[in-house]
Amino acid sequence: MLPRPRRNRRSPALRALVRETELGPGRLIQPLFVQDGIADTPIGSMPGQARLSIAGLVERAREAASLGVAGIALFPALPDALKDPRGSEGTNPDGLLPRAVSALKAEVPGLLVITDVALDPYSSDGHDGLVIDGRIDNDATLPLLAAMAVTQAAAGADVIAPSDMMDGRIAAVREALDAAGFTDVAICSYCAKYASAFYGPFRDALDSTPRSGDKKTYQMDPANAREALREVRLDEAEGADWLLVKPGLPYADVIRMVREATNLPVAAYHVSGEYAMLRAAAANGWLDYEACLLESLLCLRRAGADLIFTYGAIDAARQLAG
Ligand code: PBG
Repeated sequence: MLPRPRRNRRSPALRALVRETELGPGRLIQPLFVQDGIADTPIGSMPGQARLSIAGLVERAREAASLGVAGIALFPALPDALKDPRGSEGTNPDGLLPRAVSALKAEVPGLLVITDVALDPYSSDGHDGLVIDGRIDNDATLPLLAAMAVTQAAAGADVIAPSDMMDGRIAAVREALDAAGFTDVAICSYCAKYASAFYGPFRDALDSTPRSGDKKTYQMDPANAREALREVRLDEAEGADWLLVKPGLPYADVIRMVREATNLPVAAYHVSGEYAMLRAAAANGWLDYEACLLESLLCLRRAGADLIFTYGAIDAARQLAG
Protein backbone atom coordinates (compact mmCIF):
# COMPACT_ATOMS: atom_id res chain seq x y z
CA MET A 1 0.00 0.00 0.00
CA LEU A 2 1.61 3.18 -1.19
CA PRO A 3 0.10 6.38 0.26
CA ARG A 4 -0.84 8.46 -2.77
CA PRO A 5 -1.49 12.18 -2.11
CA ARG A 6 -1.94 12.58 -5.88
CA ARG A 7 -5.33 10.80 -5.64
CA ASN A 8 -6.83 14.02 -4.26
CA ARG A 9 -5.44 16.00 -7.18
CA ARG A 10 -6.82 13.89 -10.01
CA SER A 11 -9.56 16.15 -11.29
CA PRO A 12 -10.75 19.74 -11.02
CA ALA A 13 -13.79 18.59 -9.02
CA LEU A 14 -11.66 16.67 -6.54
CA ARG A 15 -9.19 19.49 -6.16
CA ALA A 16 -12.03 21.95 -5.56
CA LEU A 17 -13.58 19.66 -2.96
CA VAL A 18 -10.45 19.37 -0.83
CA ARG A 19 -9.20 22.93 -1.28
CA GLU A 20 -8.32 24.46 2.11
CA THR A 21 -8.46 28.16 1.24
CA GLU A 22 -10.89 30.24 -0.81
CA LEU A 23 -10.25 33.59 -2.42
CA GLY A 24 -13.38 35.56 -3.23
CA PRO A 25 -13.82 39.19 -4.35
CA GLY A 26 -15.75 39.84 -1.13
CA ARG A 27 -12.44 39.49 0.75
CA LEU A 28 -10.74 42.23 -1.26
CA ILE A 29 -10.33 45.96 -0.75
CA GLN A 30 -9.17 48.15 -3.66
CA PRO A 31 -7.01 51.13 -2.64
CA LEU A 32 -7.62 54.15 -4.90
CA PHE A 33 -6.00 57.58 -5.16
CA VAL A 34 -8.05 60.72 -5.68
CA GLN A 35 -7.08 64.25 -6.72
CA ASP A 36 -8.92 67.49 -7.42
CA GLY A 37 -9.68 68.54 -10.99
CA ILE A 38 -11.09 66.75 -14.01
CA ALA A 39 -8.04 64.74 -15.08
CA ASP A 40 -6.92 61.22 -14.18
CA THR A 41 -3.10 61.12 -13.89
CA PRO A 42 -1.42 57.72 -14.35
CA ILE A 43 1.14 56.74 -11.69
CA GLY A 44 4.38 55.74 -13.43
CA SER A 45 5.58 53.21 -10.86
CA MET A 46 2.11 51.63 -10.52
CA PRO A 47 0.96 50.70 -14.05
CA GLY A 48 -2.83 50.41 -14.16
CA GLN A 49 -3.29 52.84 -11.24
CA ALA A 50 -3.92 56.59 -11.43
CA ARG A 51 -4.66 59.60 -9.33
CA LEU A 52 -8.34 59.84 -10.18
CA SER A 53 -10.70 62.79 -10.37
CA ILE A 54 -13.76 62.37 -8.16
CA ALA A 55 -15.75 61.41 -11.29
CA GLY A 56 -13.08 58.87 -12.25
CA LEU A 57 -13.06 57.53 -8.71
CA VAL A 58 -16.82 56.97 -8.73
CA GLU A 59 -16.52 55.15 -12.05
CA ARG A 60 -13.79 52.81 -10.70
CA ALA A 61 -15.80 52.27 -7.53
CA ARG A 62 -18.84 51.24 -9.60
CA GLU A 63 -16.67 48.76 -11.48
CA ALA A 64 -15.35 47.37 -8.18
CA ALA A 65 -18.84 47.02 -6.73
CA SER A 66 -20.19 45.34 -9.86
CA LEU A 67 -17.43 42.71 -9.56
CA GLY A 68 -18.22 42.05 -5.89
CA VAL A 69 -15.15 43.79 -4.41
CA ALA A 70 -15.98 44.54 -0.76
CA GLY A 71 -14.70 48.06 -0.50
CA ILE A 72 -12.19 50.71 -1.37
CA ALA A 73 -9.44 52.34 0.67
CA LEU A 74 -9.15 55.98 -0.26
CA PHE A 75 -6.00 58.12 -0.37
CA PRO A 76 -6.03 61.83 -1.28
CA ALA A 77 -3.24 63.36 -3.38
CA LEU A 78 -2.90 67.02 -2.48
CA PRO A 79 -0.87 69.81 -4.08
CA ASP A 80 2.03 71.15 -1.96
CA ALA A 81 0.13 74.41 -1.50
CA LEU A 82 -2.39 72.61 0.73
CA LYS A 83 0.24 70.90 2.91
CA ASP A 84 1.46 72.34 6.20
CA PRO A 85 3.34 70.99 9.26
CA ARG A 86 0.12 70.19 11.17
CA GLY A 87 -1.65 68.58 8.21
CA SER A 88 -4.51 71.02 8.70
CA GLU A 89 -6.20 70.08 5.44
CA GLY A 90 -6.89 66.67 6.98
CA THR A 91 -9.61 68.22 9.14
CA ASN A 92 -11.19 70.44 6.48
CA PRO A 93 -14.78 69.19 6.18
CA ASP A 94 -14.91 70.56 2.61
CA GLY A 95 -11.52 69.07 1.69
CA LEU A 96 -10.87 66.64 -1.14
CA LEU A 97 -11.23 63.47 0.94
CA PRO A 98 -14.60 64.31 2.55
CA ARG A 99 -15.96 65.37 -0.85
CA ALA A 100 -14.76 62.11 -2.40
CA VAL A 101 -16.27 60.04 0.44
CA SER A 102 -19.64 61.82 0.11
CA ALA A 103 -19.67 61.24 -3.65
CA LEU A 104 -18.91 57.54 -3.18
CA LYS A 105 -21.55 57.03 -0.51
CA ALA A 106 -24.13 58.83 -2.68
CA GLU A 107 -23.29 57.04 -5.94
CA VAL A 108 -22.17 53.55 -4.84
CA PRO A 109 -23.82 53.09 -1.45
CA GLY A 110 -23.19 49.35 -1.04
CA LEU A 111 -19.42 49.62 -1.30
CA LEU A 112 -17.46 50.00 1.96
CA VAL A 113 -15.34 53.13 2.15
CA ILE A 114 -12.21 52.92 4.29
CA THR A 115 -10.25 56.10 4.95
CA ASP A 116 -6.65 56.43 6.09
CA VAL A 117 -5.71 58.38 9.20
CA ALA A 118 -2.13 59.71 9.25
CA LEU A 119 -0.66 63.14 8.63
CA ASP A 120 1.52 62.23 5.64
CA PRO A 121 -0.77 63.10 2.68
CA TYR A 122 -1.41 66.51 4.29
CA SER A 123 1.96 67.20 5.89
CA SER A 124 4.64 69.46 4.42
CA ASP A 125 7.13 67.25 6.32
CA GLY A 126 5.86 64.04 4.69
CA HIS A 127 5.71 62.29 8.06
CA ASP A 128 2.78 60.45 9.63
CA GLY A 129 3.22 62.36 12.90
CA LEU A 130 3.81 65.97 13.84
CA VAL A 131 7.46 67.03 13.50
CA ILE A 132 8.69 69.33 16.25
CA ASP A 133 12.38 70.30 16.30
CA GLY A 134 13.19 67.46 13.91
CA ARG A 135 11.44 64.81 16.02
CA ILE A 136 8.05 63.11 15.73
CA ASP A 137 5.99 64.24 18.74
CA ASN A 138 3.78 61.24 19.51
CA ASP A 139 1.38 62.79 22.01
CA ALA A 140 0.95 66.08 20.18
CA THR A 141 -0.02 64.04 17.09
CA LEU A 142 -2.88 62.16 18.77
CA PRO A 143 -5.48 64.98 18.84
CA LEU A 144 -4.72 65.79 15.19
CA LEU A 145 -5.34 62.16 14.20
CA ALA A 146 -8.52 62.01 16.31
CA ALA A 147 -9.89 65.17 14.66
CA MET A 148 -9.04 63.77 11.22
CA ALA A 149 -10.92 60.56 12.02
CA VAL A 150 -14.02 62.52 13.09
CA THR A 151 -13.90 64.57 9.86
CA GLN A 152 -13.78 61.35 7.83
CA ALA A 153 -16.61 59.71 9.78
CA ALA A 154 -18.74 62.82 9.37
CA ALA A 155 -18.24 62.57 5.60
CA GLY A 156 -19.61 59.02 5.71
CA ALA A 157 -16.59 56.71 5.96
CA ASP A 158 -17.55 53.19 7.11
CA VAL A 159 -14.15 52.23 8.51
CA ILE A 160 -11.36 54.48 9.77
CA ALA A 161 -7.85 53.12 9.29
CA PRO A 162 -5.09 54.74 11.36
CA SER A 163 -1.84 53.96 9.52
CA ASP A 164 0.48 56.27 11.45
CA MET A 165 1.88 53.90 14.15
CA MET A 166 1.81 56.50 16.94
CA ASP A 167 1.42 54.90 20.38
CA GLY A 168 -2.06 55.28 21.84
CA ARG A 169 -3.75 56.43 18.66
CA ILE A 170 -6.40 53.72 18.55
CA ALA A 171 -7.73 54.80 21.95
CA ALA A 172 -7.55 58.47 20.96
CA VAL A 173 -9.44 57.83 17.70
CA ARG A 174 -12.03 55.59 19.38
CA GLU A 175 -12.74 58.12 22.12
CA ALA A 176 -13.11 60.97 19.63
CA LEU A 177 -15.40 58.96 17.34
CA ASP A 178 -17.60 57.92 20.26
CA ALA A 179 -17.74 61.45 21.68
CA ALA A 180 -18.87 62.73 18.26
CA GLY A 181 -21.61 60.10 18.07
CA PHE A 182 -19.87 57.79 15.58
CA THR A 183 -20.06 54.73 17.80
CA ASP A 184 -20.84 52.47 14.81
CA VAL A 185 -17.84 53.50 12.73
CA ALA A 186 -15.22 50.73 12.89
CA ILE A 187 -11.46 51.06 13.26
CA CYS A 188 -9.02 49.07 11.13
CA SER A 189 -5.73 49.46 12.94
CA TYR A 190 -2.54 49.23 10.91
CA CYS A 191 -1.30 47.16 13.81
CA ALA A 192 1.99 45.69 12.59
CA LYS A 193 3.14 48.19 10.00
CA TYR A 194 6.80 47.84 9.12
CA ALA A 195 9.32 50.47 8.01
CA SER A 196 9.41 49.00 4.53
CA ALA A 197 11.11 49.96 1.27
CA PHE A 198 8.13 48.40 -0.53
CA TYR A 199 6.09 51.61 0.01
CA GLY A 200 8.14 53.52 -2.60
CA PRO A 201 5.55 53.61 -5.42
CA PHE A 202 2.81 54.74 -2.97
CA ARG A 203 4.95 57.68 -1.92
CA ASP A 204 5.45 58.54 -5.62
CA ALA A 205 1.67 58.50 -6.02
CA LEU A 206 1.08 60.95 -3.16
CA ASP A 207 4.41 62.78 -3.35
CA SER A 208 4.66 61.94 0.36
CA THR A 209 8.28 60.85 0.77
CA PRO A 210 9.52 62.25 4.13
CA ARG A 211 11.33 65.53 3.49
CA SER A 212 13.93 64.52 6.06
CA GLY A 213 14.78 61.35 7.95
CA ASP A 214 12.79 58.13 7.68
CA LYS A 215 9.88 56.44 9.42
CA LYS A 216 11.93 54.02 11.54
CA THR A 217 11.12 55.70 14.86
CA TYR A 218 7.45 54.77 14.49
CA GLN A 219 7.06 51.98 11.91
CA MET A 220 8.33 48.56 13.01
CA ASP A 221 11.75 47.05 12.34
CA PRO A 222 11.43 44.37 9.60
CA ALA A 223 13.60 42.13 11.79
CA ASN A 224 10.91 41.83 14.48
CA ALA A 225 7.98 39.42 14.67
CA ARG A 226 7.34 39.00 18.43
CA GLU A 227 7.00 42.76 18.75
CA ALA A 228 3.92 42.54 16.50
CA LEU A 229 2.15 40.64 19.28
CA ARG A 230 2.74 43.52 21.65
CA GLU A 231 1.04 45.83 19.15
CA VAL A 232 -1.82 43.32 18.84
CA ARG A 233 -2.47 43.36 22.58
CA LEU A 234 -2.40 47.15 22.77
CA ASP A 235 -4.63 47.71 19.74
CA GLU A 236 -7.16 45.15 20.97
CA ALA A 237 -7.26 46.79 24.41
CA GLU A 238 -7.63 50.25 22.84
CA GLY A 239 -10.66 49.19 20.80
CA ALA A 240 -9.53 48.19 17.30
CA ASP A 241 -12.08 46.22 15.22
CA TRP A 242 -9.66 44.83 12.61
CA LEU A 243 -5.89 44.32 12.81
CA LEU A 244 -3.78 44.87 9.71
CA VAL A 245 -0.31 43.60 8.82
CA LYS A 246 1.70 45.47 6.21
CA PRO A 247 3.42 44.75 3.80
CA GLY A 248 1.93 41.42 2.74
CA LEU A 249 3.86 38.49 1.29
CA PRO A 250 7.28 39.16 2.85
CA TYR A 251 5.48 39.26 6.23
CA ALA A 252 3.36 36.10 5.88
CA ASP A 253 4.86 34.72 9.09
CA VAL A 254 3.66 37.80 10.97
CA ILE A 255 0.16 37.42 9.49
CA ARG A 256 0.12 33.84 10.77
CA MET A 257 1.28 34.90 14.26
CA VAL A 258 -1.27 37.70 14.46
CA ARG A 259 -4.01 35.33 13.26
CA GLU A 260 -3.17 32.95 16.09
CA ALA A 261 -2.97 35.71 18.70
CA THR A 262 -6.34 37.40 18.10
CA ASN A 263 -10.01 36.71 17.46
CA LEU A 264 -10.40 39.97 15.55
CA PRO A 265 -10.50 39.95 11.73
CA VAL A 266 -6.96 40.12 10.32
CA ALA A 267 -6.19 42.16 7.22
CA ALA A 268 -3.09 42.03 5.03
CA TYR A 269 -1.93 44.89 2.82
CA HIS A 270 -0.37 43.72 -0.45
CA VAL A 271 1.47 47.01 -0.89
CA SER A 272 2.45 49.23 -3.79
CA GLY A 273 5.94 47.71 -4.20
CA GLU A 274 4.55 44.18 -4.31
CA TYR A 275 2.09 45.27 -7.01
CA ALA A 276 4.80 47.16 -8.94
CA MET A 277 7.07 44.09 -8.98
CA LEU A 278 4.36 41.97 -10.58
CA ARG A 279 3.53 44.64 -13.15
CA ALA A 280 7.19 45.24 -14.02
CA ALA A 281 7.95 41.55 -14.48
CA ALA A 282 4.81 41.12 -16.57
CA ALA A 283 5.71 44.12 -18.74
CA ASN A 284 8.98 42.33 -19.53
CA GLY A 285 7.14 39.15 -20.40
CA TRP A 286 8.75 37.38 -17.42
CA LEU A 287 5.65 36.65 -15.31
CA ASP A 288 1.94 36.26 -15.92
CA TYR A 289 0.46 39.21 -13.96
CA GLU A 290 -3.02 37.77 -13.39
CA ALA A 291 -1.81 34.30 -12.36
CA CYS A 292 0.85 35.64 -10.00
CA LEU A 293 -1.59 38.15 -8.51
CA LEU A 294 -4.19 35.47 -7.74
CA GLU A 295 -1.53 33.21 -6.28
CA SER A 296 -0.15 36.02 -4.11
CA LEU A 297 -3.62 36.81 -2.75
CA LEU A 298 -4.46 33.16 -2.14
CA CYS A 299 -1.19 32.76 -0.22
CA LEU A 300 -2.05 35.77 1.95
CA ARG A 301 -5.42 34.15 2.74
CA ARG A 302 -3.65 30.85 3.51
CA ALA A 303 -1.23 32.67 5.84
CA GLY A 304 -4.24 33.81 7.86
CA ALA A 305 -5.58 37.04 6.36
CA ASP A 306 -9.37 37.33 6.40
CA LEU A 307 -9.28 40.26 4.02
CA ILE A 308 -6.70 41.82 1.72
CA PHE A 309 -6.00 45.36 0.60
CA THR A 310 -4.55 45.06 -2.91
CA TYR A 311 -4.13 47.36 -5.92
CA GLY A 312 -5.05 44.28 -7.94
CA ALA A 313 -8.49 43.83 -6.30
CA ILE A 314 -10.50 44.78 -9.40
CA ASP A 315 -8.18 42.75 -11.68
CA ALA A 316 -8.42 39.73 -9.38
CA ALA A 317 -12.19 40.02 -9.08
CA ARG A 318 -12.48 40.07 -12.87
CA GLN A 319 -10.36 36.92 -13.12
CA LEU A 320 -12.36 35.20 -10.41
CA ALA A 321 -15.61 36.07 -12.21
CA GLY A 322 -14.39 34.85 -15.57
C1 PBG B 1 0.99 56.29 5.12
C2 PBG B 1 0.67 55.09 4.36
C3 PBG B 1 1.61 54.42 3.56
C4 PBG B 1 0.93 53.38 2.94
C5 PBG B 1 -0.41 53.41 3.37
N1 PBG B 1 -0.54 54.48 4.27
C6 PBG B 1 3.02 54.71 3.24
C7 PBG B 1 3.99 55.03 4.28
O1 PBG B 1 3.86 54.65 5.44
O2 PBG B 1 4.92 55.73 3.93
C8 PBG B 1 1.63 52.45 1.98
C9 PBG B 1 0.81 51.72 1.04
C10 PBG B 1 1.54 51.07 -0.07
O3 PBG B 1 2.77 51.10 -0.22
O4 PBG B 1 0.83 50.49 -0.88
N2 PBG B 1 0.35 56.60 6.26
